[in-house]
Amino acid sequence: MTNSSPDVVVYEVGPRDGLQNEPESVSTADKLELIDRLTSAGMRRIEVTSFVSPKWIPQLADAGELAAAAPQHDGVAYSALVPNERGYDRFAESGRLHVAATFISASESHNRKNLNCSVAEQLGRMAPVMDRARADGIPIRSYVSTVCGCPYEGDVDLRAVVELARRLVEGGAEEISLGDTIGVGTPSQVRELVAAVGDVVPLDRVALHLHDTYGRALANVQAGYEAGVRTFDSSLCGLGGCPYAPGASGNVATEDVVSLFESQAIPTGIDLEALIDTSTWLENDVLQRTLPSRVYRAHRGRREKAASA
Ligand code: HMG
Ligand code: MG
Repeated sequence: MTNSSPDVVVYEVGPRDGLQNEPESVSTADKLELIDRLTSAGMRRIEVTSFVSPKWIPQLADAGELAAAAPQHDGVAYSALVPNERGYDRFAESGRLHVAATFISASESHNRKNLNCSVAEQLGRMAPVMDRARADGIPIRSYVSTVCGCPYEGDVDLRAVVELARRLVEGGAEEISLGDTIGVGTPSQVRELVAAVGDVVPLDRVALHLHDTYGRALANVQAGYEAGVRTFDSSLCGLGGCPYAPGASGNVATEDVVSLFESQAIPTGIDLEALIDTSTWLENDVLQRTLPSRVYRAHRGRREKAASA
């Protein structure tokens, strides 16, 4: 079901979070086709790549080439991860992406593993990126990772998450995406998180970025929605994971999130059948392995049954 005035934003991160975690690099042509298919299905915000070190994430080493060729559509905003000024140089050189996405963790150990520096050092690296983006008229989305738990430290202090969110907004971030990087969060934890962050950032500038390691991501989306969040990151077929967060599995699947909202008559503006076509292409022609989204599998089964009837 499509709708011109969606009530929620389903923010696709598959081309970045999904493909950064694939064992083999996907070709630039296939990435571009994926992005094109996602926009045709009605997705309006897509994270297309990362300007991180190609030594750290070789799967996204073609970021410059991809950005140069990304098809432009009215009303569609592409973001890319930018860890430091070198990343912002590459983002700006491409001149074709719309949102620069910074990232930092609420826990020291994950930040060090993922960005090779402390949280304080990363805040220092982000400051000139945010200043340059502001001067260039580029909006900043800032991820705060490990908000529900850290793969190295376990529990994470909610006050650290809130303090980071506050500082990032003060530094110029237009949107804060709260990352349950290792998918350990629970609905009650999400409600507490949203209420606490909502005290320092208006909820129309907060997104939830929920990984599904423990199978609770969809329940957490619902809890986030009921708590007032309206932007949800997701990845087609449930691909994804952070290579520097051991044991983390994919993001909540885009098909599952769209279907969850459709089932409650909450418009997303996204055509679920077109997503299923895209997932079928991605599974059969690109990744050639069984992909996890529950709703995708259910629709594939239904289609196969109808075809054989
Ligand atoms: P470093 O090794 O400490 O960097 O890495 P450095 O400053 O010492 O530089 C080392 C080399 O990297 C130099 O090249 C630099 O030029 C180069 P050399 O002289 O050796 O040839 N370099 C770069 N090259 C290209 N683009 C750049 C760049 N920066 C330096 N931007 C660095 C520091 C930040 C680069 C590294 O740690 C890195 O790339 N980390 C990224 C890791 C990553 O992408 N993780 C996954 C994404 S985060 C995630 O998935 C979580 C999220 O989804 C939310 C959630 O789920 O919670 C967002
Ligand atoms: Mg992630």
